[in-house]
Amino acid sequence: MPVRLNEKIAKYFYLQILFFCIFNGQKNILMDPEKLLTDVCSIARTAGSFLKSEIHKISEKNIETKSEHDFVTYVDKASEKFLIEELSTLFPEAGIIAEESRQAKNAHRFNWIVDPLDGTSNYIHGMAPYAVSIALTDYDNEILGVVYEVGQDECFSTSVNGQTKLNNHPVRVSATPLLTQSFIATGFPSRDYSRLPEYMELMKALMFESHGIRRLGSAATDIAYVACGRFDIFYEYHLSAWDVAAGAVLVKQAGGKVSDFSGKNNYLFGKEIITSNGHLHMDFLEQLNKFFNHG
Ligand code: IPD
Ligand code: CA
Ligand code: CA
Repeated sequence: MPVRLNEKIAKYFYLQILFFCIFNGQKNILMDPEKLLTDVCSIARTAGSFLKSEIHKISEKNIETKSEHDFVTYVDKASEKFLIEELSTLFPEAGIIAEESRQAKNAHRFNWIVDPLDGTSNYIHGMAPYAVSIALTDYDNEILGVVYEVGQDECFSTSVNGQTKLNNHPVRVSATPLLTQSFIATGFPSRDYSRLPEYMELMKALMFESHGIRRLGSAATDIAYVACGRFDIFYEYHLSAWDVAAGAVLVKQAGGKVSDFSGKNNYLFGKEIITSNGHLHMDFLEQLNKFFNHG
């Protein structure tokens, strides 16, 4: 048999085996979402324990400035390295989008979307909340989400078709029916000030129209708190996929609603998000639309 033909046959069988392994690997891991979720929670908790063990060791010399008001420490980087290693082992066929090293969107069907330390500014000032956020997406749909808030040792988790749980107990969004009764969370712009005037006007209106507004400093935690009914609404602009991906699926599976500022679905990579208990979504959008121009 000519050598080239031999090579072609070998390549054919290699590809068959590769496809078989990839297909079966994906099938196995996705066929048992509860097991996958348990593994991801355990990985998030281990990363969280590391964050906790280092928080009082942080000093000026450990803080690097990535860009204006955007900081990173060796803890963010080490946590991310650990998470990438563990998640890649768990589901090797999935790509990774992670804040400190792999920010670009890639061509993979499945992706882990990872924030190794959400709330770095809180963290470097020695305070909570701060969290580990991990989502798994299928194309651009979140199919699993875990937010582990370290300060209160609270692990929020869900997968599509499952319930949202807080430390393994089912939780739901609030039942608050009126904006005037709502408790709202947001983030203050700290890098992109282009929409600050309308942002301030909206906030002023909400001060009259709600029970109160909070800025906790960890978007992943804010969104998880909507999922368990502590907040009724969260909104912010200039967030990235790793800030919102896990939280978004937590809110949806807890009965809430997630959208961008136009009420559409482009919140994962669109840099603006509203999460709510669902009842208040339209009223909140109406308020927001009085001030925000969607161009
Ligand atoms: C930040 C936090 C914060 C939000 C910022 C995010 P980081 O994430 O989620 O609440 O207002 O826009 O960048 O940088 O601490 O991972
Ligand atoms: Ca973040
Ligand atoms: Ca981060």
